[in-house]
Amino acid sequence: MKGVVLAGGLGTRLLPLTRVTNKHLLPVFNKPMIFYPIQTLVDAGITEIMIVTGGNNAGDFLRLLGNGEDFGLNQMHYTYQKREGGIADALALARHFVGDDKVVVILGDNFIQGSIRNAVEDFERQPEGAKIFLKEVPNPHEFGVAELKDGKVVNIVEKPKQPVSRLAVIGIYLYDNRVFDICRTLKPSARGELEITDVNNDYIRRGVMTYEILEGWWADCGSFEALMRSNLLVARENGVDL
Ligand code: G1P
Repeated sequence: MKGVVLAGGLGTRLLPLTRVTNKHLLPVFNKPMIFYPIQTLVDAGITEIMIVTGGNNAGDFLRLLGNGEDFGLNQMHYTYQKREGGIADALALARHFVGDDKVVVILGDNFIQGSIRNAVEDFERQPEGAKIFLKEVPNPHEFGVAELKDGKVVNIVEKPKQPVSRLAVIGIYLYDNRVFDICRTLKPSARGELEITDVNNDYIRRGVMTYEILEGWWADCGSFEALMRSNLLVARENGVDL
């Protein structure tokens, strides 16, 4: 299975921190943010990884990550997103890299405490479709929110005003190869982006979406509060008494 880390965008919710650098290069405790999702993929046994970046300072990723030596890899793949088209638009750029394989996609600002190794292995055996991870959160309106019925995900709503559950869809997605055909059918949302939630709902409608409830903490860096929380969680994980 291939791995894709999405690290584009302008990070406007974090201005002025992102005025002269890319959000995914900002520090989280003692490493640049993007180190964590890459490590999550490597820990899950994924060795072929592509970074999709864009916006300002895209070249800095090459200097920072090189050929993946810090992660025990001997090659790192890169592609460049010219426009701000959303998560599904960025993913579409990895089509040739993924080839006929399955793919695990991770948002470059998402952190998890645990491992996705078992889920990745389960998904290797899943004949078709997709798998997502859900986590109960106190502020579901800030995320994609899943509705469950009879043990299945029946719908996901992106940042709903009135969430039907507290189950956020976290930014790690496992897809079969059909994901690239789905990306081509998408229309921009109200915020002008091709939404990953629309990709996931397509799999749900075809009855081939599975899910796991994520163990351990999950954090993203979509806001100042979330970035601060991520720093604290990672620091504590490293034994710092704050
Ligand atoms: C994105 C997804 C959302 C998901 C979140 C996780 O939101 O659209 O469904 O819950 O990542 O971090 P965005 O960060 O683009 O607002």
